[in-house]
Parts: sequence; C-alpha cells; structure tokens
Amino acid sequence: MISLTWPLFRTTERAALAAWPQTGCGDKNRIDGLAVSAMRQALNEVAIRGRIVIGEGEIDCAPMLWIGEEVGTGSGPEVDIAVDPIEGTRMVAMGQSNALAVMAFAPRGSLLHAPDMYMKKLVVNAQAKGAIDLALPLADNLRNVAAALGKPLDRLRMVTLDKPRLHPAIAEATQLGVKVFALPDGDVAASVLTCLQDNPYDLMYTLGGAPEGVISACAVKALGGDMQAELIDFCEAKGDTADNRVIAVRERQRCAEMGVEINRVYAIDTLVKGNDILFSATGVTGGDLLMGIQQVAKGVRTQTLLIGGAERTCNIIDSLHSW
Ligand code: FBP
Repeated sequence: MISLTWPLFRTTERAALAAWPQTGCGDKNRIDGLAVSAMRQALNEVAIRGRIVIGEGEIDCAPMLWIGEEVGTGSGPEVDIAVDPIEGTRMVAMGQSNALAVMAFAPRGSLLHAPDMYMKKLVVNAQAKGAIDLALPLADNLRNVAAALGKPLDRLRMVTLDKPRLHPAIAEATQLGVKVFALPDGDVAASVLTCLQDNPYDLMYTLGGAPEGVISACAVKALGGDMQAELIDFCEAKGDTADNRVIAVRERQRCAEMGVEINRVYAIDTLVKGNDILFSATGVTGGDLLMGIQQVAKGVRTQTLLIGGAERTCNIIDSLHSW
C-alpha cells in the first residue's frame, strides 16, 4: 500500500477542496455531491484496481462511489476502498467545526462489508487494548478500561455523540463519575482522537453509522488501538415504529446478502484484516483533529492526517494550493 500514500492524501484533499467553498450553504446534499465527484475523479486517476466496499450507498440510490463500484485506472494493485467524502455533511452545511474528507485503502478482501445502517462502536487506544467487550454492559467496560489505564473512574474521559439514543449511556457514565464529551457529530474524528498519542479521550462509545465505523476501524487498527462493533437495527437505534420496522426488514435482507450479522460483536481483526492499511483525513472545517481549509494570500491551505498501518507512520501534511 505504501506506494499509494501520495495519491490517497491528494484524493481526500481534492474532496475537501471541492466541498469547502459551500461551507454554510445549508444544503448537505450539494456539499456531499461535490466531494463525491471530486473524490471519484481523483480515484479514477490512480493506478489501482480499486473497489468501493464502504461507500455512499447502493448503486440504485447513490449515483457515484456506490458499494461495489470499480475505480482506478484498471492496472496496479487490487485495493478495497472505504470512503466518506464528507464525514459531517451537516457540519459543513451549517458552518460548524470538525468536518473531514476521509478515505482508507486496504488490500482486497481486508475490510468488513457493512451496509449503511447503525453500528454500536467502542474504541480504546493501545494502552487499553484487550480491555473492551461490547457484549458486557457499558458500566463494566468503563470500569475495565479505567483499570487497564490505572485511573479512577472520575478521571476516565469518554467521548460520544450528543444524540437522544445515546442519552441513557451518557447518564450512566456520568453517574459513575466518568467525564463525558458529547459531540454533535463526527465519530470518525472521535475514534482517531481516542487512539492518538496525547489523546484527549480514553474511550469512544457511540451508536452511529456503520460505514463510519469501518473507516474508523482502519485508523484505529493502524494506530494500534482496539475496537469492537455491532450492527444495530433501525428500530433499536431510532425506536420501534411501523415505518422503522420496514427499514429494519430491508436492513436484515441487505446484511444477509453481504454476509454480516446484526447484533454480533465484531472484533477489530474482523473489521479490518491485517495491518497493511492507509487512512487519510483532510480537514474541511477546523476541529480538534485537524485544521480546516484556510484562505491564504494566493490560494488555500489544507491539513491532512495520513496514517500507515504497515510502517506505523502518522503524518500531518500541510499543503498550499494556488488558485
Ligand atoms: P454525516 O457525514 O452523514 O453527516 O455523518 C456524521 C455523523 O455524525 C457520523 O459521524 C455518525 O456516525 C453519524 O452521523 C450518526 O448518524 P445520525 O446522523 O443518524 O445520528
């Protein structure tokens, strides 16, 4: 994968640059569309036989970068690609912080094929590797992670999303004394921040998108962290209503077709096989992980985090782009 580092980070840069001028426009579909088409164009210039395994959706409802789509020039290594052209479309649309353009490369067959549905995710860094078990209640995981890190519970820092479905988990953690950081959106950045050195969080617990979960797993694995994940049906995530039951039935069919199971705990080595992973994220709007795109005298400046699993490298790349 190492030869693909340059094309990879250039691709997330291009997606971020395409979306950024629309920051604050209020239209998340327009933002996503611009990033998707820039990412696709960039990918089609790379010498790979690439296949999108985590993408924008299925062929019939996603015009580009759909799951199964072949990209690249058609020569070179066979690569599985996970994309989230804009992680945090809402944030860009509303001019909020923490939005990223994200992509990961791994050898063919390495990534779990997950449909676009909800996923429960638990992430810790290398120091707490082996201390998590999603089959156990959250409180047990918090105690086990705190013990692994040698901290009392009231010094443990949990990051999550501020969504109604996570409010019971937030209440449970705060009752134990755990310090909770509930972000409006963006669990990829939260997963990466949990695994970085000088990390602001000790663990990430969310119920968010499955595609974001597999992309996060690429970064977590490359950084030596640990993650477990479980696909959750729509009714469990959003409430048991007649409409939601229709969606849940479709999700079950899709899971069966893709060979994955709902409510099964997937360990990091099943989410991502091997270590030959490349992960790239370019900041669109500024956040805790990366600076957003900034206008400079003769152009713009981007910041990208590039993580390589095989070489255990982690680079932050500042680029200047002329108009
Ligand atoms: P988008 O790019 O689709 O806006 O995703 C942002 C995000 O916060 C993810 O990080 C998270 O996994 C997911 O949304 C949560 O889903 P929902 O928006 O349905 O709460």
